[in-house]
Amino acid sequence: MRQLLPTTELRTLVDAYTSDWGPVAWKGLKASDFHCDDRATGQMLYALAMIEADSLTMRRRISVIGADRVQELLEFITIWLAEEGEHSRALTYMSAMHGFESRDLSTRATTRDLRTLFTRPMLYAVRGLRGICAAYCTLGAMQELVALTTYHHLANRTESVEVHDVLKAIARQESHHMRFYRGAAELFLMDSRAAQRNTRMLITRLWQPPGRDLLGTGKFERIFGPILTDREYATNMLKVDRVVKSLPGLDGVNVMARYLDSHDFRYDAPQRAGGEVTVG
Ligand SMILES: [Fe+2]
Ligand SMILES: [Fe+2]
Repeated sequence: MRQLLPTTELRTLVDAYTSDWGPVAWKGLKASDFHCDDRATGQMLYALAMIEADSLTMRRRISVIGADRVQELLEFITIWLAEEGEHSRALTYMSAMHGFESRDLSTRATTRDLRTLFTRPMLYAVRGLRGICAAYCTLGAMQELVALTTYHHLANRTESVEVHDVLKAIARQESHHMRFYRGAAELFLMDSRAAQRNTRMLITRLWQPPGRDLLGTGKFERIFGPILTDREYATNMLKVDRVVKSLPGLDGVNVMARYLDSHDFRYDAPQRAGGEVTVG
């Protein structure tokens, strides 16, 4: 039997998100005279700017897989894109403050095939809009959680008050995105064994950290090495697995731990007690 989409509940999530949105304010960066020669951090910030800008590619993929046929998702995505675009501009500016020139980093932005990665397997594996939306929103929650963890971490490392404040503001916005995606994933997965099965299969087989596909394997690890090798950061990244496991039917998914293990990035063993995952 064809299941109805959880339209009413999605509307509540969209309303909560749209009650507090808008571009992140980063005028403070332009007024700051902070400048340093820290190319490694500058490169990370610039790579993050590219990953943020890549949301536009995601927008096209969303269209290919048909998730934007759901009015509530389309409404969210439209605003989400505007916010991610502003993150990209602020991060580009920050990378220059750290002495990094944008021409020093190439990406695969123009050469990637939209039908590859999540798009094509998704279309083959997931029949039905509910399953597609479930997988898309689960992935969204994971990537937003990586983003907010990364911005919090970088904010805590910087010596500039202005950079700190803007990174924290971006992290807060990523937290709003994450809440929306997590809530929506829960709704699409709930009561649908097919959506749960397909989402689990796609995430387990195809998930990668955001930007790894854009930058390229190896290069991604080289650029983000300074934080991936930081035990505290790697440990915080495990929240991604905890959030996924808390979703209906996705218990036991461990892709972040698997990724960190495969590259020998060390972390503190997760506590068995579980508990609420904080995302703010
Ligand atoms: Fe962002
Ligand atoms: Fe985001």
